[in-house]
Amino acid sequence: MIRSVHRRLAAGTAIAIAGLLAAAVPTAAATSSTTTSSSSSGSAAPARSLAALAAPDIPVANVKAHLNDLQSIATANGGNRAHGRTGYKASIDFVKAKLDAAGFTTTLQQFTSSGSTGYNLIADWPGGDANKVLMAGSHLDSVSSGPGINDNGSGSAAILETALAVSRAQFSPDKHLRFAWWGAEELGLVGSRYYVNSLSATDRSKISGYLNFDMIGSPNPGYFVYDDDPTIEQTFKTYFTGIGVPTEIETEGDGRSDHASFKNVGIPVGGLFTGASRTKSSAQATKWGGTSGQAFDRCYHSSCDTTSNISETALDRNSDAIAYAIWTLSAGTTVPPTGDVYENTTDVTIPDYGTAVTSSVAVSGRTGNAPAALQVGVDIKHTWRGDLVIDLVAPDGTAYRLKNSSGSDSADDVVATYTVNASSETANGTWQLKVQDVARYDTGYINSWKLTF
Ligand code: TRP
Ligand code: ZN
Ligand code: CA
Repeated sequence: MIRSVHRRLAAGTAIAIAGLLAAAVPTAAATSSTTTSSSSSGSAAPARSLAALAAPDIPVANVKAHLNDLQSIATANGGNRAHGRTGYKASIDFVKAKLDAAGFTTTLQQFTSSGSTGYNLIADWPGGDANKVLMAGSHLDSVSSGPGINDNGSGSAAILETALAVSRAQFSPDKHLRFAWWGAEELGLVGSRYYVNSLSATDRSKISGYLNFDMIGSPNPGYFVYDDDPTIEQTFKTYFTGIGVPTEIETEGDGRSDHASFKNVGIPVGGLFTGASRTKSSAQATKWGGTSGQAFDRCYHSSCDTTSNISETALDRNSDAIAYAIWTLSAGTTVPPTGDVYENTTDVTIPDYGTAVTSSVAVSGRTGNAPAALQVGVDIKHTWRGDLVIDLVAPDGTAYRLKNSSGSDSADDVVATYTVNASSETANGTWQLKVQDVARYDTGYINSWKLTF
């Protein structure tokens, strides 16, 4: 793999070695839209691993628009989208039409449960290694008592919009992507089990991972990650760390959603969840906001699970996490990308209890936005690190807090790598590390810092 190192030895004097490499080799500027599949082997080209970093920001307004449509479907069909009811079939037809228009190959799979016909919708994105399939699924049925907007319009709408983003990017991952909307989950994971049972052992073995999204917009949300396949789990955790949102392991009934159908036959699984009828603790309210002593979703399985029963913030974060996971996990067997390094090694004195100082790195020759997991390596020498407030400042001036001051953080030096979700920032431009010493007596300097794209 080509690894280009950009170094700035002093402000304004960039050495352009890496720029030359970038011009000769497409790796440095790869994005999802310019990277095309040229190999079907497991050894991915470096360009692909960089493509993984270009996961799009999923527009939450689009996800909400899908929820409004699902709500309208329920309203027009007796108030629910339950298995065996007209609202379920109308929901499946709605999702299928969007995917067909976006270039997916869709399959409606029929089954019978409790005397009614049920449907799974399977949507394949053409291309990728057919022997390495990455799947994402959500149950589309509601209970009969309500429209099921959080449970599970939320997961259904988020993976629909992610699939549409795959199409908009004309994403060409190493793995084959397959999205699924399950019927009759509320009757006991019926649709997903039917699908898994319909696969031969060979076809099951081709599924390298299944990601499940069931209830990801709870109005009093928690951020729960399934504790199953370690790679999938870590991918989600990396995303949430990057946006500064703590997560917990999902414990509200492991096996209570469609991932269990896959896990039971040995397929690696993972997923996200924002909580159902369990109560948010005060510790959880402290870390996530919201209301302690109240259920994550007070409308769970009831008629008030409408479009009012959604946290837009949770829906937004989880939708972006889904896209990040799909972009990242669909890269072949490449090790995590080492990326391009932009560094400033000039010392900058940090005045004691003084104004903020900055150190710059210039980033050029890239395409599109910065990654969702931008690595910020910081090396600051200081006699009391608790005095320091550190921000990364993007070219447009947006500041990302890396570290706050703390009276009790009595160690020396800050030598750390922070992960920042910089996916809404243009990559090219001047990035700054901004450091302020906010307490008297101890002093130090920025020794060096770097960005790894
Ligand atoms: N699957 C459940 C439902 O649809 C909701 C649920 C409860 C859940 N516990 C879970 C989903 C844990 C995912 C993970 O009613
Ligand atoms: Zn449910
Ligand atoms: Ca000080």
